[in-house]
Amino acid sequence: MPLAAHEFDFVREVVREHVGIQLDSWKTNLVETRLAAIARDERLASVDDLMRNLRTRARGPLATRVVEALLTTETSFFRDMHPFEAMRQFILPELVMQRQAQRRLTIWSAGCASGQEIYSVAMLIREHFPSLLDWSLQMVGTDISSVMLAKAMKGRYTELEINRGLPAAALIKNFEQHGLEWQIKLELRAMVEFSQMNLAGSWRALPKMDIIFLRNVLVYFDVEKKREILAKVRRQLNPDGFLFLGGAESTINLDDDFQPTYFGPAVVYRLRARVGEAA
Ligand SMILES: C[S@@+](CC[C@H](N)C(=O)[O-])C[C@H]1O[C@@H](n2cnc3c(N)ncnc32)[C@H](O)[C@@H]1O
Repeated sequence: MPLAAHEFDFVREVVREHVGIQLDSWKTNLVETRLAAIARDERLASVDDLMRNLRTRARGPLATRVVEALLTTETSFFRDMHPFEAMRQFILPELVMQRQAQRRLTIWSAGCASGQEIYSVAMLIREHFPSLLDWSLQMVGTDISSVMLAKAMKGRYTELEINRGLPAAALIKNFEQHGLEWQIKLELRAMVEFSQMNLAGSWRALPKMDIIFLRNVLVYFDVEKKREILAKVRRQLNPDGFLFLGGAESTINLDDDFQPTYFGPAVVYRLRARVGEAA
């Protein structure tokens, strides 16, 4: 039975309240399919039954499960490549110079999904900037999804996930094979701390960041939430720090304090006051 419009609206409201995301109305089929899978898994008689449970407890574990199932968690190693090239050629060399005295560097993947983004940075650092391993290097991955975080912490990926974006040499060097899966080596896992954080809620205490990856996350929020999140990112970023957004995202018309800066084909956002000072 197709999901009634009022049921879809209810699920949409649950998602909005939990994570601040507005589900697109064309996603009815996806919502139906995912709810049916959860109903089966929870041994509930039907999606109607699931909806009844959800209505009585819109904040319990079932609601969390439904919300998590409706998040888009698509990611891959070295996704879009250009940001990682910009890191290697320009950004990390600059920060290594700037932070020579403090020997401290902070990098955050906000909305890290299953960890491929922050592990790509970890691989890049081990390969090209090994001296940073003797610094106080803090790399953090946060996400709302506990399922994604568990996978990120384990660092274990299927052949399909490995084949998306990871060069063969990086696979051999940084992963161990476990049957049909590949696990990122312990020394790389040890470089990253993962924790749960809702970008649309109040943020837990994090250090000021030199580099923030907030890629392919803002796209799911409405304009007001995007602005709120960018204002918090602004406060979280060091004045000479770097912000990466996804290819379909921008700060333009959302937050004038960020200045798009080009490193080859990569766009990186920097805080405007600092750009003025440096000129
Ligand atoms: C499409 S993935 C992007 C992963 C990675 N940044 C990349 O670009 O490959 C979006 C991630 O944002 C997370 N997310 C969505 N809403 C969130 C929120 N309110 N707080 C924290 N994470 C959220 C999702 O769980 C998902 O893992």
